[in-house]
Amino acid sequence: MAAETDVMEKVVALTKRRGFVFPTAEIYGGMSGCYDYGPVGAELRRLIRDDWWRTMVTAREDVVGLESSILMPARVWEVSGHVAGFHDPLVDCKKCKGRFRADTLADARCPERPSKRPGECGGELTEPRQFNMMFKTVAGPVQEEGATVYLRPETAQGIFVNFKNVLESTRVRVPFGIAQIGKAFRNEIVVRQFVFRLRELEQMECEFFCVPGTEDAWFEHWKAYRLRWWTELGVRPSRLRLRPHDKEELAHYARGCVDVEYRFPFGWKEVEGIASRTDFDLKAHQTGSGKGLAYLDETTKQWVVPFVVEPSAGVDRCFLTVLVDAYEEETKANGETRVVLHLHPKLAPTQVGVYPLVKKDGMPERARAIHARLATVLRAAYDEQATVGKRYARMDEVGTPFGVTVDSQTLVDGTVTVRDRDTMAQERVHEDALLGHLAERIRTWKRADDGATA
Ligand code: GAP
Repeated sequence: MAAETDVMEKVVALTKRRGFVFPTAEIYGGMSGCYDYGPVGAELRRLIRDDWWRTMVTAREDVVGLESSILMPARVWEVSGHVAGFHDPLVDCKKCKGRFRADTLADARCPERPSKRPGECGGELTEPRQFNMMFKTVAGPVQEEGATVYLRPETAQGIFVNFKNVLESTRVRVPFGIAQIGKAFRNEIVVRQFVFRLRELEQMECEFFCVPGTEDAWFEHWKAYRLRWWTELGVRPSRLRLRPHDKEELAHYARGCVDVEYRFPFGWKEVEGIASRTDFDLKAHQTGSGKGLAYLDETTKQWVVPFVVEPSAGVDRCFLTVLVDAYEEETKANGETRVVLHLHPKLAPTQVGVYPLVKKDGMPERARAIHARLATVLRAAYDEQATVGKRYARMDEVGTPFGVTVDSQTLVDGTVTVRDRDTMAQERVHEDALLGHLAERIRTWKRADDGATA
């Protein structure tokens, strides 16, 4: 366990050192449950989102996209059941004033004595009380006269309230899905494990509307489709699993749910939920708004409220999964250790680094020209600072899969050295063949080990 905690600490330190993640408003002491993403982190998140969108929307004929508002009227959340039911049970320690979720006490630590569990500091724990996790605010300039609005705790409701708009403005017909990526806000009682549990988070959700009676088949489809996405991101299959929810765990809207879980250093944890939401949400909004949210079934000529299957993943949890899974500390042949991120090249913020061996003899000019060509297709970076060994080490830490070095031989025969991040093997490739060579290696990349023994 100590070694595993260690890995987490090292990943957190790396993300700060290399510009993936910074604490929000750090110069003012930070803010718990919120993080900012630095230049490299922002790029990684963008690549994750783009890959999700491509798989869920662009590559499918039966899913369309949407961007709905973060602020929504209180009525939406009353009707959806979130005002009454989006609660976590909260307990307080009367002595140390620690605040805990009653349902995860076994995993919690006393803030006064971190080696102890809640209450073991000698304090008495209060009875659990329900704590609503939505952030509430007021729309309009005058507090007293404004309307109460909530920051959405899930992006899903923005999709449900637009069901009819999408049906009437596009050519989609049931079965079809509406996908959305966006921020959501939850006033979590306890925020821990870095970006795993946040108060400001980002979700990638799809509400898939299907004919009642076909939801179980679609549920099976989405389980397989979503699990495949995770493995195609390069996450090692031995650290992924599907876990069905027990009845008591189900959210107020769900009839069945399966989590995609990843084995983090702090245990198996949910990174995505796939829920069978029945017709709960659309029926509730139909009653709540007085607007029909059914579709006309062409065969039976009946108006039907569709059932919903929902795959919902977190951008931040995916980001953490990808980083933890990619992180390795390796001992090189010369006994030195190196830190490397074995990121899938499609997710690498920089795919190729281009380096002149030295800053003279025309090498920088030649390297810049190669960089300019590569940068038309790949995410390429030019670097002439420090020794080439240091440049490789820097690139290993941000997961750059390929390093191209221009040396004296390049000036003679036009070949460059291509260094592989994962194996550290080097080969010479002619600069004219470089783009094709790298594109092929990116396309055929595979993680060397499956992570089962790590
Ligand atoms: N619309 C369904 C829904 O919101 P959820 O299981 O509560 O379901 C879906 O959330 C996903 O959103 C989770 O699998 C997780 O990846 C992410 N998520 C939820 N709460 C989070 C939090 N506090 N911090 C970071 N990510 C979170």
